[in-house]
Amino acid sequence: MEPIFFVQLSDIHVNAPEKNNPMFGVDMSAKLRAAFAEIRSMRTKPAFVLISGDLTQDGDADDYRHLRRLIDEEAERTGVPVHVGLGNHDSRPAFREGYLGEEPSEESYYYSFLEKSLRVVMLNSQIEGSHDGEIDAKQLAWLRDTLSEPAPEGTIVVLHHPVTATPNAMMDGHLLRNPADLKDAVHGQGVIGMLSGHIHFHNIGSLVGIPCAAATGVAFGLDSTSPNTMRFLDNSGYNLVTVSGGHMAVQPRMLPGEQRLLYEWDPAKQPAHA
Ligand SMILES: [Fe+2]
Ligand SMILES: [Fe+2]
Repeated sequence: MEPIFFVQLSDIHVNAPEKNNPMFGVDMSAKLRAAFAEIRSMRTKPAFVLISGDLTQDGDADDYRHLRRLIDEEAERTGVPVHVGLGNHDSRPAFREGYLGEEPSEESYYYSFLEKSLRVVMLNSQIEGSHDGEIDAKQLAWLRDTLSEPAPEGTIVVLHHPVTATPNAMMDGHLLRNPADLKDAVHGQGVIGMLSGHIHFHNIGSLVGIPCAAATGVAFGLDSTSPNTMRFLDNSGYNLVTVSGGHMAVQPRMLPGEQRLLYEWDPAKQPAHA
């Protein structure tokens, strides 16, 4: 089978420009557009782009309306479909209203799609009002049911919160609350990889032998060498993902750009940044 190539973006933290309150004074919409511009310059066109949560910073319906316009425009220019999932900065009712054009509701947003013989599962690990993540019982049951029918090239599971440990003690306190439940659901079910975001630096691990890759953010990065403070950096990156012969390979990439320190949060000295 031909290799399947796609791009994972994460943590784009976009807000509607009319709010005029850019995080750290940085235009996150421009950063997202720069990522799409780089995708368009690639020698191989990806089959699709996925975005693994923290779609917006504030999670208002206006933010999602702006984001939907932006993504529709970039998807058309790039000629690829864009699949999105939710993160802890998102809000289900506002997303349903502003992005999907539906009635606002707290209903979880998870689904799967096929790219040729590869299945991609987009989970909703966000807990409204919390930095932590969880896959609830209803979603776990749906996941088990979905995976019970194998896909020829295997399945990639995408969720905002990583399931494996990181070098940042502060971040490790805000990962997935129930990795054991997810481990049980995916073990031996043809899952060839798991992709996450949330931590804003590239991180590779494994879960019951399944490779797990967290992508850095498009909006900003966090300094992975600073274990007890959060050093927000003005950089952007993403993952290139190739699936071939039932195996997933991930190439973490950084966009050219500044590495300047935007903000340093030391919980021993300062209150949390908004
Ligand atoms: Fe984020
Ligand atoms: Fe997050």
